[in-house]
Amino acid sequence: MVVAKKYVVVAPFVGDPKPNNFTIVEEELRTLEQNEFLAEALYISVDPYQRIKLGHTIPYDMIGGQIARNTAYFGLTDICKPSPGETVVVSGAAGAVGSHVGQIAKILGCRVIGFAGTDDKCQWLLNEVGYDHAANYKTVNIAEYLKQQAPSGIDCYFDNVGGELSSIIISQMNEFGRVAVCGAISGYNETDPEKRKGTFLQPYIVGKQLKIEGFLVNRYADRTTEGIRQNLQWVKDGKLKYREHIFNGFESTVTAFIGLFNGANTGKTIVKL
Ligand SMILES: NC(=O)c1ccc[n+]([C@@H]2O[C@H](COP(=O)([O-])OP(=O)(O)OC[C@H]3O[C@@H](n4cnc5c(N)ncnc54)[C@H](OP(=O)(O)O)[C@@H]3O)[C@@H](O)[C@H]2O)c1
Repeated sequence: MVVAKKYVVVAPFVGDPKPNNFTIVEEELRTLEQNEFLAEALYISVDPYQRIKLGHTIPYDMIGGQIARNTAYFGLTDICKPSPGETVVVSGAAGAVGSHVGQIAKILGCRVIGFAGTDDKCQWLLNEVGYDHAANYKTVNIAEYLKQQAPSGIDCYFDNVGGELSSIIISQMNEFGRVAVCGAISGYNETDPEKRKGTFLQPYIVGKQLKIEGFLVNRYADRTTEGIRQNLQWVKDGKLKYREHIFNGFESTVTAFIGLFNGANTGKTIVKL
């Protein structure tokens, strides 16, 4: 008899996720049938999208999968389609997706500017990840910073966070700029509808003839192997570095998850079981 553990969401999220939204449940696994096998997880992935699963009725199992690298690869190459020499801006730049986006953009010959939430994260982006410029969006004047670091404008924006930060970036894009809208974490926990309102962007979108496209990595499900192979090759070639923020023990899963929303992590958040 095998007893497994799982996290179950037992109370709807209101604002930030809290420990009392979850409970750990033990579950006796049924006997295997022919052609079935039992796998033991050594690590599990913790991801922001688990906060916004739509259409789930409480209680539901908290479950996720590692998708960051393919999200970065397909969102940048298929939606932003950057050319060598272009300027790419990335928000959420020191996270799992963002840290990969910036490196892939560098591999493709672009100038890369990132925004992250602490000075330490920005130093990591500059000194280890290879961003050309990185700034703390909590302390810098974003519009002024972009005028200095991207004097010729922005060609591509990989948007992980949404909100006002993204509006400022989009308002400084070049003609025919491309925006890949990957996520909107700045609003996931926001309960006040007034604070979800943003700058009126249509004049910029029309005037600069921008292409703004949301995407889910599932769109590229039939190209999953291509993404894994390409990313792995870049890792083997030493062109793509990664950092894991590792939490220890199944019971730390909720702490790891909550940490995604206050910037506790640098790189990919995983839990070692
Ligand atoms: N479209 C898809 O298929 C797909 C797939 C995977 C992920 N996503 C999305 O991609 C984004 C990044 O996901 P990830 O897994 O790589 O997570 P992550 O970036 O590793 O972790 C989340 C990060 O978001 C930042 N953050 C939190 N609150 C913020 C706020 N109010 N404003 C700005 N930044 C904030 C924090 O960093 P700071 O310290 O910099 O604030 C935090 O470290 C998320 O929006 C996620 O939902 C989309």
